[in-house]
Amino acid sequence: MGDPRLLQRAEPITNFSGRELDVLLADMRDTMHELNGVGLAAPQIGVSLRVVIFEVNANPRYPDAESVPQTVLVNPVLTPLSNEMEEDWEGCLSVPGMRGLVPRYTKLRYQGRDEKGMLIDRTVSGFHARVVQHECDHLEGILYPMRMSDMRNFGFSDVLFPGQNVQDE
Ligand code: NI
Repeated sequence: MGDPRLLQRAEPITNFSGRELDVLLADMRDTMHELNGVGLAAPQIGVSLRVVIFEVNANPRYPDAESVPQTVLVNPVLTPLSNEMEEDWEGCLSVPGMRGLVPRYTKLRYQGRDEKGMLIDRTVSGFHARVVQHECDHLEGILYPMRMSDMRNFGFSDVLFPGQNVQDE
C-alpha cells in the first residue's frame, strides 16, 4: 500500500498466445504460494494487467472455510445478482498484517477468460464471491480499506485474531 501502481486501472490482456501471460502467471502463483495467500492480482506485483488468480484449499484446521477452485481469471466482468451485501473480515497481501470488515455482494456472476483464452462463466456466493470481488477491485485500483464503512473495524491481525493464522488476499 502506497505504491501508485496499486491505484491504477489495469489494462486488458489482448494476446493469449504469447509467453507473456504464462510468465506473469508463474510469477503470480509463486508469490501467492510463498506468502500463503488465497488470491492475487497482477497489479500487486507491479504489473498493470487485468489478471487475477485465487484458490482456497480445504483445510482441516479451518473446517468452516469454503474451498474455492484454483482459478485464473483474465479480463473479468462481475455482475452482482442481488443488492444484498454482507460484511466479513478481509486481509490483503498489499496491506500486510491488517484486517478489516468489508461489505461485499453475497451473490454474483463472473465472466472472463482462463490462461488459454477459454470462457469462464460462474455464478457464486459467499466466500468465493468475496474473494472474486476483492481481487477484481485490485484491477480498478481499489484496496479493501477503501470499501470499508467503519474504520473502527480495521486493525492488526494479531490483535484482532490472536493466535490465529489468517490468510490474505
Ligand atoms: Ni488484496
